[in-house]
Amino acid sequence: MNDIRCLFVGLILLGVLKTGYSEKSCSCNNKWKLVATTNETGNVTQGSKTELIQAVLNGAELRIQLASSGYLTSVQNIQVLNDNVCVQALFHISKASYDAFQENAYWWFLYVCSSGRTNIARYYVGEYVSAGRSEVDYAIKWFIRPMQNVALEQTGENSVMSGNIVDLINDVESGSDVRIVSSRNGYSVEMDSVEVSTDRSLVVGQSVFYISTTVDDASNYKFENNSYWWFTNWATDSTVHASFWNIGEHVSRGNNVYKFPIKWYTESCWQLAYQHDASGNQVQGSLEFLRSAIKAGHRLKIVYGDRTSVEPDDINIRNGHVTAFIFRMIGKNPQNIKAFDNGVWDWRMITTTGTETTLKVNYGEYIEQGRSNSNIEAKWFVDTRHWKQVLVNSNTGSIISGSKSDLIEAINAGSRVRYLLEFPGKDTVAIKEADNLAISGNNVGAMHVRSVSKGSAHGNNYEYRFAVEPYFYFTISSTTGKVDMSRWTVGNHQNRGHSNSQAKIKWFVN
Ligand SMILES: *[C@@H]1O[C@H](CO)[C@@H](O)[C@H](O)[C@H]1NC(C)=O
Ligand SMILES: *[C@@H]1O[C@H](CO)[C@@H](O)[C@H](O)[C@H]1NC(C)=O
Ligand SMILES: *[C@@H]1O[C@H](CO)[C@@H](O)[C@H](O)[C@H]1NC(C)=O
Repeated sequence: MNDIRCLFVGLILLGVLKTGYSEKSCSCNNKWKLVATTNETGNVTQGSKTELIQAVLNGAELRIQLASSGYLTSVQNIQVLNDNVCVQALFHISKASYDAFQENAYWWFLYVCSSGRTNIARYYVGEYVSAGRSEVDYAIKWFIRPMQNVALEQTGENSVMSGNIVDLINDVESGSDVRIVSSRNGYSVEMDSVEVSTDRSLVVGQSVFYISTTVDDASNYKFENNSYWWFTNWATDSTVHASFWNIGEHVSRGNNVYKFPIKWYTESCWQLAYQHDASGNQVQGSLEFLRSAIKAGHRLKIVYGDRTSVEPDDINIRNGHVTAFIFRMIGKNPQNIKAFDNGVWDWRMITTTGTETTLKVNYGEYIEQGRSNSNIEAKWFVDTRHWKQVLVNSNTGSIISGSKSDLIEAINAGSRVRYLLEFPGKDTVAIKEADNLAISGNNVGAMHVRSVSKGSAHGNNYEYRFAVEPYFYFTISSTTGKVDMSRWTVGNHQNRGHSNSQAKIKWFVN
């Protein structure tokens, strides 16, 4: 990427936000690269599988598109198997059409290999009951984006490191994404959250979304028959603590501790937008800058308690204050940040008022382990990548600006897609990132599966509290303004309603 283009993007950001971004690195402007297209029989019809494998082993981010339908999805983890790459794409709920869920919701877990084979496991939401399995052959487009830095490398056996843990800690504390590659087993995964120990001698990254697998043959992995989740904590002393739980029920399948060689990759496309103390007073940056960056499509990362970095699953802006909703954390042993507690979700919401609200609930059943409200200091980072607004549709589906074809073009180029939802008469703007995107004619449906119900905090116009019997809610937001919502009680296969409403939606791509 040449300097003129970097400067150009910097100026666009200046224009949109009227505040300067520090352009830390020109590689923050890298686009997704279509590195290979594989067909139903695993033949490469464009690009190179070797280049795909090299990119994965060098820590690249990856997105995949089903070539026949244009269905684009995030992937939760990546595995190299001999001459092929297999990925788990787990964030899908069963649909009746591109813009509506089915009534009896099930998870649609995909294990997609560049051999052409895709293994599909379906489980009803909230219970350990299979809704069927199948195998299909898909042609796949593989999009990659390299990570910039190897912050730290460990051999596994005796924890010898090259690189410096201080570099890794600095990157974590400046909002960087963190990805690990375990070269011995060809496994690559982005950390869902990262914690630095109080004495700053250890970094532990947590990964929540991996389902147990077996090797099918020399080219394919598949989900195990009696699949279970692997929750893993990856530590800079080379240990990996794993905790295994049946899908959809609170039944332990054991735990283990491994020693793996781990490479830690980071990027530095982030800047501090706002920092407040535990009373919600400004320390650095500005709340207005944070709000405008989020409303211009930028990703958000929070570093709270001076130790933990996490990207929220949902964001709301309510009467000027920002709330980050964090659902991608599993509780850790209070005595040992490398180890797990007993299969407990550790959910929290943090508001720029300086309030943190938590809910701990057993994974796979509704048994609460505690709630709290407290004051917390936090740093709010926004990414410095270029997010382009491609479309604004009104709540009746008319086009206010941009075009649907620009959005579809961006999807076909592998882009991440974020969107802002404004419902008429509500004091809240909701911001989401698409977990998957379906194209239907000239319309697009963006699915988001990572939401939990909440209520307003009593007598407070900014904050939220977790609901009493909370439900997960899945949404499909489409370019017609329709927002389809399917609700399921946390920990049970209990339907809490399926409905739809209309919203004005601003669409951003990167
Ligand atoms: C995949 O590509 C190969 C080589 O181009 C071709 O021979 C094969 O028929 C293709 N398979 C399908 C299902 O299109
Ligand atoms: C690709 O296609 C050819 C036939 O066109 C076939 O012999 C070969 O096994 C296919 N598979 C791969 C992975 O190249
Ligand atoms: C796994 O399930 C499939 C399909 O239901 C069945 O054919 C196969 O025998 C099962 N394998 C094991 C090891 O149980």
